[in-house]
Amino acid sequence: MDPDLLTTTRAFRRRLDLTRPVARREVLACLDIAVHAPSGTNRQPWRFLVLDDPATKQAVAEYYRKAFAAYLSARTPRPDQLRDLGSGQYLAEHLHEVPALVLVCTPGRPPAHPLQLASFYGSVYPMVWNLLLALHSRGLGGTLTTAHLAYERDIADLLGIPFEEISQVALLPVAHLRPGPATPAARTPAAELTRWNRWDGA
Ligand SMILES: Cc1cc2nc3c(=O)[nH]c(=O)nc-3n(C[C@H](O)[C@H](O)[C@H](O)COP(=O)(O)O)c2cc1C
Repeated sequence: MDPDLLTTTRAFRRRLDLTRPVARREVLACLDIAVHAPSGTNRQPWRFLVLDDPATKQAVAEYYRKAFAAYLSARTPRPDQLRDLGSGQYLAEHLHEVPALVLVCTPGRPPAHPLQLASFYGSVYPMVWNLLLALHSRGLGGTLTTAHLAYERDIADLLGIPFEEISQVALLPVAHLRPGPATPAARTPAAELTRWNRWDGA
């Protein structure tokens, strides 16, 4: 296992090559790796709807743009968040040009209880991260996005997803990566966030 893959798999946005198609077999190959992720009682509750039709991508991107604009206008970003939000804006503007949009779904609607909620989303997100790693290991890249969920029902209607039976979890734009630096993501060192034995240090 290459530890660099883990530290350099980023939210790829500006580096996505919008001009080079992604073959369906490449997407499926990465999905086949991703589905080796763990899930509660091995339910494997992930379902995929991959969008590569230009008109369909455009329609979903319109919802995404509306949602992202509302998200931006509702917050005052910290200075260290400006770069990420700037590239988020870039992605929103170009989403329809990304060769493939992988819509990750799961059966059922989100439960209210934290225990069930943890299993509901927690049984899908390890697969999502596996997918991002698998893509990156093959020179492709993606970003985990959720902004579209503000319009989940509209998008369900648009794409023929039965809303009451299937929840959308994340939308991953997928493209080949343009050359660029493999920079590890900036993160707070774990030691600063870790306590031992008791939360209150007593
Ligand atoms: C649950 C979740 C939801 C996210 N939603 C969005 C989104 O809607 N749009 C977007 O551009 N990025 C989204 N991101 C990507 C984050 O902005 C990104 O992972 C974070 O800023 C770290 O980026 P880096 O690895 O390049 O440092 C999301 C990430 C997570 C984990």
